[in-house]
Amino acid sequence: MQTTSEIRSLRSQVKAWRQAGLSVAFVPTMGNLHEGHFSLVDKAKTLADKVVVSIFVNPMQFGANEDLDAYPRTLQQDQQGLSERGADYLFTPTVDTIYPNGLGSQSYVDVPEVSMGYCGGSRPGHFRGVATVVTKLFNLVQPDFACFGEKDFQQLQVIKTMVRDLSMPVEVVGVPTQRDVNGLALSSRNGYLSDEQKQQATVLFATLNWVKEQLLDGIKDFADLEQQAKARIAAAGLVVDYFSIAERNTLRRAEQQDSELVILAAAFVDKVRLIDNLPLDCK
Ligand code: PAF
Repeated sequence: MQTTSEIRSLRSQVKAWRQAGLSVAFVPTMGNLHEGHFSLVDKAKTLADKVVVSIFVNPMQFGANEDLDAYPRTLQQDQQGLSERGADYLFTPTVDTIYPNGLGSQSYVDVPEVSMGYCGGSRPGHFRGVATVVTKLFNLVQPDFACFGEKDFQQLQVIKTMVRDLSMPVEVVGVPTQRDVNGLALSSRNGYLSDEQKQQATVLFATLNWVKEQLLDGIKDFADLEQQAKARIAAAGLVVDYFSIAERNTLRRAEQQDSELVILAAAFVDKVRLIDNLPLDCK
């Protein structure tokens, strides 16, 4: 697997593949790769002839009090994992390469409505940062397909909406969440948790499943279910950020007639903010 931090090298490699008639799938990441990321690479390999992965810890999507500086950087380990998994090309740009004029005067992409609330409410500016960097990366890589984890469900919907609204020539593919044996969704931020905290955090997935069962049993008092779910999570010692039942495509609050739903949750274990979700079809 070749690695470059240079835009010119990336572009000339992709151009050579295109001239040879090969298709390209892209997996954007912030590194510190785990099985969740590798499952995106596996999916990408089924979609296209060549797989490009990027590792870029994007300052534009971190708030002032978030973990940008502490975010784990594990390039060597990531490179090894990616080449074992069969990725073809790794792009590791610097902040100056992506934002040569700094962040202050950077043009940006805002995706209204679907970016509002949930993580967008708790992390103002986060989805602007994500949409902007993903647009830049799409323009650099020009992939046919791009794979994103369903774990970041709102992010996936923001990117799908952006691609549709701006007619970007890329097919966005969501890949199911990977979990540990106890159901905890894999995330780079799990590395901040002790074993005991990881055990404590399993209440998130357990509660999502409990709410899913209630919904499938025909219980439709969404507000009451959300309240009960928050109480369960708080009783396990987590601080709930949000717990919401939403329409899956638009992410607006669910209404009685909606059949495509997603249950979205975020909670803090000490200072570590975890998110998870569960999509379901309700008849
Ligand atoms: O999900 C992530 O790792 C990031 O938000 C992404 C999509 C790579 C953009 O920086």
